[in-house]
Amino acid sequence: MTKTMPSKLPAVFLLALTFLLLGGGAVLALQTQAPANDDQVWKEFITWFKTAPAGGDPFRLYGEELAKQGLTKEEIGRRFGVITRLFATRPEGAEVFYDRTFSRPALTGRPEVDGFASGPSEFLVGAVKEVRPGRALDLGMGQGRNAVALATKGWTVTGVDVSGEAVAAAARNADKAGVKIKGIKSDYASFDFGRESWDLVAMIFAWAPIDEPAFVERVRACLKPGGLVVLENFVSTPERPRPPMVRALPPGGTRAAFAGFEIVSYEELTGTGDWGGPDSDLVRMVARKR
Ligand SMILES: C[S@@+](CC[C@H](N)C(=O)[O-])C[C@H]1O[C@@H](n2cnc3c(N)ncnc32)[C@H](O)[C@@H]1O
Repeated sequence: MTKTMPSKLPAVFLLALTFLLLGGGAVLALQTQAPANDDQVWKEFITWFKTAPAGGDPFRLYGEELAKQGLTKEEIGRRFGVITRLFATRPEGAEVFYDRTFSRPALTGRPEVDGFASGPSEFLVGAVKEVRPGRALDLGMGQGRNAVALATKGWTVTGVDVSGEAVAAAARNADKAGVKIKGIKSDYASFDFGRESWDLVAMIFAWAPIDEPAFVERVRACLKPGGLVVLENFVSTPERPRPPMVRALPPGGTRAAFAGFEIVSYEELTGTGDWGGPDSDLVRMVARKR
């Protein structure tokens, strides 16, 4: 037995080598040449994104990284097409993106430096000024600028966000302001909105899928009768389209999406957004559940 083992081992290696050099090798070679499928493209991007160097535009940096790997311009363009498309439907993208945004050590609280506002939305605060405080749901609450403002005015606030860094920042900001909010780390699809539970649903640049009637119906169902939706987002125009993940609808699209509601106020304008800065195409809507 002990004598036959050594002579069998090389035979096994030989077989493996033959496999690699002939059939198996060919299969491996084919695999490295085959274009990455959507899942591979997404996985590679997310893996890179999680540890992407701080500062700079991560998408530009990723493009440079792919070029360094020797990918052609066409293949890089194709991969960005896949990434952009999947970003809209895979909340993991928003999670990684906003974890990065809200954990930036250099955040100053100044919109012109950070690129977004840390103070409450004037539109939201104005919209609920005359409303008796009740239970508010802040979808995509980010660092809690609006959740904290509502809580300060006496609202009982639950904020939902897929980014753990956002939820943590919101908790810190609530502590600083001396108010209580409930923060839940969840994506919209997994969160139970409840039924007739809320007096207010705030969606301020929430990247919420309002283009999906089923989502709007969940919002409607979770509101108490007479409850309000206060929404601000970008408008996507042919001249200035927004990427799909932002869920910006074309002019008139947001009003149409909420057709089942009483529209209390509706404005589309070009102005300074709390996100997006000056010269942004914006929509501001207050809608009431009938
Ligand atoms: C542009 S920020 C706005 C934050 C906040 N509403 C504000 O106005 O400052 C969008 C927020 O929505 C969250 N978000 C995006 N997609 C989400 C999803 N599918 N589920 C839950 N939160 C999401 C992000 O993590 C991010 O904090």
